[in-house]
Amino acid sequence: MYLKALSITHFKNYGAVSLGFSSSLNFITGKNGTGKTNLLDGIHYLCLGKSYFHASDQQSVKFEERFFRMEGDFQHGSEPINIRCVYPLGGKKELSCNEVTCQRLTDHVGTIPVVMIAPDDQSLINEGSDERRRFIDNTISQIDHLYLEDLLLYNKVLQQRNAALKNFAVTKRFDGALIEALDQQLTAFGEKIFSKRVFYLEKISPLIEYYYHLFCEGSESIKTTYQSVFHRPNFNLLLKQVIEKDRQLERTTEGIHRDEFDFFLNDQPVRKFGSQGQKKTFLMSLKLAQWELIKSEKNKKPLLLLDDLFDKLDAFRSVRILKLISGPEFGQVFITDTETDRLAVERVGLNTAYKRFLITSGRLTSEITEMENSLEKR
Ligand SMILES: Nc1ncnc2c1ncn2[C@@H]1O[C@H](COP(=O)(O)OP(=O)(O)OP(=O)(O)O)[C@@H](O)[C@H]1O
Ligand SMILES: [Mg+2]
Repeated sequence: MYLKALSITHFKNYGAVSLGFSSSLNFITGKNGTGKTNLLDGIHYLCLGKSYFHASDQQSVKFEERFFRMEGDFQHGSEPINIRCVYPLGGKKELSCNEVTCQRLTDHVGTIPVVMIAPDDQSLINEGSDERRRFIDNTISQIDHLYLEDLLLYNKVLQQRNAALKNFAVTKRFDGALIEALDQQLTAFGEKIFSKRVFYLEKISPLIEYYYHLFCEGSESIKTTYQSVFHRPNFNLLLKQVIEKDRQLERTTEGIHRDEFDFFLNDQPVRKFGSQGQKKTFLMSLKLAQWELIKSEKNKKPLLLLDDLFDKLDAFRSVRILKLISGPEFGQVFITDTETDRLAVERVGLNTAYKRFLITSGRLTSEITEMENSLEKR
C-alpha cells in the first residue's frame, strides 16, 4: 500500500501543489514553519478522513479561502485506490473512494492504514490515560471496523446518560426506566469493547518489547497493564450501585471510558520513572508496534509518517531506526526534518529507493521541489 501521487489545494499554508512520491522513503525538508507537518497531516486526512492534530476542519482551510481539496492516488498491489477529500468552509466534509462517496467518514477507516509519529506524541507516555485510550482505540479501529462502530455507539449512549443525569438535577425528577435502558446498552457495548481491548493488548505487548530491545539492546522488562471495571463481573449491577454518586456528579463515573492503560519498564511506570531517552525510545517502540500489529492483522503495510523524527533521537538511534524502516519489511515512509544534511541517505549507507523534497514557503504559499529521484525501486 503506498501513495503514488497527491494534489492539495488551499489546505493550511498550501496554495495548489501536486507531487509524486517514492513507494519507499520520502524525505521532506524545509525550515521551520514551511509546511512539513501540514503535508503529513494532508496525507493523514486522506487515510483517516481527519486531521491528526485537531478536530476542526475549518482550521485546515487556507486563510482567506473557502474550501480545501485533496486527492491521493494510492496503489495496493495491482489495485489503484483514488481517495478524494473536499471540505467547503462551513459545509460538510466529503470523502470519496474510487468516485464513491463514503456515507460516513468512519466507513473509510481501515482502507488506507496509517501510523503517525509527531513530537507532541510524548503526551502518550507523559499524560493521563485519555491519550493512551485514544492510541489503543485508533489502533483497533484501523483493524476492526465493528470495534469503531461499538465505540461510537457506546459514546453516544454515554452522552445520553450524562444528559439525562443533568436533566434529573434540573427537573428534580428521576426516570428509572430510562436509566435502566441506557445501562443495558452501555453494558452490552462496553463488554464488546473490553474483550477486544484485552485481545489486542495481548498481541501488541510483545511487539512493543521487541522494538524497545531492538533500539536499546537493554534487558529491561516491559509490561503493559490494563485496568477496567469490566475485569469484574456484572457491570450492570455496578451502574445501579453508583447511581446516587452519578446523580450527584451529573455524569457517568464508571465504564470503559475510564479504562486505564499503563506502560512499565522494569516494573516502574515509564511515565513516572523513565528518562527522557527511554521515553522517546518507548514512544517509537509503541508506534512501530502499532504499525506491525495493523500490518499483520490487515495484511496491508500502513503508511508511516514520521514528523521531526531526528529531533527526538541521538545520531546512533536515528541511524538505527532509519535503517530499520528502510528495510524490505517496511512499506512507504515519510520523514520530515529541518536539516537537509541529517537526511543525507548516502552517508547513512541506505540502499533503497527514496525521494527528497525541499519545501520553501512564500508568505502564504509553499512550493515543493523534488530534489532527487529514486536510486532504485523496490
Ligand atoms: N489554515 C491555514 N492557513 C494558512 N496557513 C496556515 C494554516 N494553518 C497553519 N498554517 C501555517 O502553516 C505554517 C506551516 O506549518 P507547519 O507546522 O506545517 O510547519 P513545519 O514546516 O512543520 O514547521 P516546524 O519545522 O517548525 O515543525 C505555519 O506557519 C502555520 O501558521
Ligand atoms: Mg513541523
